[in-house]
Amino acid sequence: MSAFPSILEGIKDLELGHIKALLRRTNDLKSGQPPRLPLQKTLAVATSFLENSTRTKLSFAMAIMRIGGYHIDFHAESSSLKKGESLEQTLLTLKYQGVDICIIRTNESHLLDQFREYPPIKIINGGDGINQHPTQALLDLYTLQDHFGGLKNIKGKTISIVGDCIHSRVTHSLTDLLPQFGVNVLLCGPDFFIPEEMPAGVNRVTSLDEAIEQSDAIYLLRVQTERHDKSISDKLKNYQQEWGLTFDRFRKHSKVLPVFHPGPANIGIEVEQDIVNSEIWMAHKQVQNSVFVRMAIIEAMINNEDHHIGSQYKKIPGDISERIRNT
Ligand code: NCD
Repeated sequence: MSAFPSILEGIKDLELGHIKALLRRTNDLKSGQPPRLPLQKTLAVATSFLENSTRTKLSFAMAIMRIGGYHIDFHAESSSLKKGESLEQTLLTLKYQGVDICIIRTNESHLLDQFREYPPIKIINGGDGINQHPTQALLDLYTLQDHFGGLKNIKGKTISIVGDCIHSRVTHSLTDLLPQFGVNVLLCGPDFFIPEEMPAGVNRVTSLDEAIEQSDAIYLLRVQTERHDKSISDKLKNYQQEWGLTFDRFRKHSKVLPVFHPGPANIGIEVEQDIVNSEIWMAHKQVQNSVFVRMAIIEAMINNEDHHIGSQYKKIPGDISERIRNT
């Protein structure tokens, strides 16, 4: 297995071995084992959330605290980014101040691609536009396998992701991740929320009833209006009736299923209050597990011994003063 990546942009940055090791370490950390960190190292982790967040940011803050690190919350609005400084110079500044990892959230898909060749600092993607949200998918996988009694028990299970799949970075990470563990993923929602091309191991169902009938778990999404190009509010008039999950729906099929949600949930739209108040609502478990999964991710990245970060940054070859004297 290769070293843990220094840029975790998406699920595809991880090998199967990395993912399994993260799940094992999450179990260890959850059961109270101490974190494994390099000796005599002050761990400093920055969060730079250029887009709104409650769960992801605070869960990273808790994870940093529980792992024994220092947390710096970087506010883009009051930073030199507003004076025209580039994000890469900002990240290099953090790196040379001694920050080990920066967690970045942005509304721009693929913003982190530019750092792949010369990473200015170790980076974890906290969600980029509609592209990827790898730490959310990993904590969802952890919670799913925990619910079904271990990784081997989720093989062959079916989960339906319901709602605004096309604008959901969580969905894009989940469809990259879950099929690797033999989970069948069904996407379900109005046509304009379902991508035309499906990744391997992912299929479509056309109604919520079909999804309930075929699934072992349901994963609900919020209608992510802030990620839509143009207003589609006219098309959403009957959303709650058609796609909102209620106990009545389950009753029709004489079955209840665990209901996952990455949050924030719009109660009364994609899900009714009674489900949120019941024991089938898995979102609180997802939040609880998120801290330990993120501790495991930070631990793995901090231990990857990538000493070149920031230092090989677009170096001009040769002795620059020599070259200038000779021109
Ligand atoms: C998700 C996100 O930000 O992509 N939430 C989260 O990180 N817990 C989903 C959403 O915004 O609806």
